[in-house]
Amino acid sequence: MIKILELFGGIGAPRKALVNLGIDHKVIDYVEINEKAVRAYNALYDNRHQAQSVEGWNLKPDILVHGSPCQDFSRSGKRLGGNDEDKTRSSLMWETLRIIKNMGDWKPRYVIWENVTGVLDKDMIHSFNKYLIRMNELGYTSSYEVLNATEFGIPQKRERVFTISILGSKAFDFSKLERRPMRHIDEFLEPDVNDPQYMINVPSMLNRIEEFNPSARKKYRTLGVIGDSCWTITERQDRCPNAGIIRLPDKPQYRYLTERECWRLMGFSDDDFNAVLNEYPTKPGKRNATLYRLAGNSIVVDVLEAIFKALQQEEFIEQPPYMVFGDKGQLQLNY
Ligand SMILES: C[S@@+](CC[C@H](N)C(=O)[O-])C[C@H]1O[C@@H](n2cnc3c(N)ncnc32)[C@H](O)[C@@H]1O
Repeated sequence: MIKILELFGGIGAPRKALVNLGIDHKVIDYVEINEKAVRAYNALYDNRHQAQSVEGWNLKPDILVHGSPCQDFSRSGKRLGGNDEDKTRSSLMWETLRIIKNMGDWKPRYVIWENVTGVLDKDMIHSFNKYLIRMNELGYTSSYEVLNATEFGIPQKRERVFTISILGSKAFDFSKLERRPMRHIDEFLEPDVNDPQYMINVPSMLNRIEEFNPSARKKYRTLGVIGDSCWTITERQDRCPNAGIIRLPDKPQYRYLTERECWRLMGFSDDDFNAVLNEYPTKPGKRNATLYRLAGNSIVVDVLEAIFKALQQEEFIEQPPYMVFGDKGQLQLNY
C-alpha cells in the first residue's frame, strides 16, 4: 500500500488519480487551510478532515504531493514571487521543504510539486532553482517538465510545471509518461445550456469577443471562442482571461462554461461534482463561485494518473549525483 500526504490538498486531485487507477493507497493526511475546500474534499472521499495550515506540520508518507499556492508566480498575478524571507502565499512551498527536513533520516520516496509556468520566468526562476538545489541537499534528484493537459486526453490548454523528486540518484523520465490523444470538448459540454446566469450579456465582456466586436483586439485583452478545446480553467469564468466562451448554435449568443463542465475538464466525474454540489448547492439563477474556484485551483487528474502510472513502473534514469545550469539559466539534469 502506498502512503500519500496531500499538502495544500484542495479537492484532492492526486487522491482521485490513485482511486481511478485502482492503486492501493492510504492518504495519511491531507492539509488544507480553506474550509470550503476541506468540506468539498470530505464530501468527495467521505473523510472528516478539518482545515489546518501546512506550517509546522509532520508525518511519514511514501509520496508527498504539494500543489503549493501559485498566485505570486502567476503571470496574471502581482508577481510577488516566492522568496522564503518575503512570506508571500507562493513562498509556502518552503514549508514543504521544512516538513521534509523535519522528518529526519526517514523521507518520502517521491515528492511531486505542481505549479504555474510563471515560476520558470526570468524574474522567478531563482526560486525554482533554489527549490531544486534544496531538494538535492535533502537527498533528492529532481526533474521537471511543463505538461499540458491536452497531451493527456483533456481538451484544456493548461500548462503546468511538474517537478518530480526521487530520493537517491535516479531521475524521473518524463518521456515515459503515457500520452493520450486529446478528446473533443463536445464530450465534456452539457447539452442545451440556456440558463440565464451563463449567458454573456454585459457589454464589458461582449466587447472583448472579436467576432462580436471587430476592434476588440485593439482595445482589450480578448475572450476566446472555444473550438475543439478550451484554455486554462481559472478560479472565475466571468473574468478576462477565462477558459473561453461558447457560441450557442444558431444564435448570436455566447455563454460561460458551466461549473460541471469545468469539473469535467479537470478530470473529475459527474458523481464527484454532484457530491460537492450537494455540499454547496447552487442558488437558483446564480453561478456557483465556490464550485468554479475549487475546480480552477486543482490539478488535472489525468496528468497525475499518467505520473503515478510511470512511478509504479519505476523506469527511472540512473543519474550522476550533480546538476548543471541550462542555457536559460534553469537547473537541468545532466543526462
Ligand atoms: C493550487 S491549490 C492546490 C489544489 C490541490 N492540489 C487540488 O488538487 O485541488 C493551493 C491550495 O493551497 C491552500 N493553502 C493556501 N495556504 C495554505 C496553508 N497555509 N496551509 C494549507 N493549505 C493552504 C489553498 O487553500 C489552495 O486550496
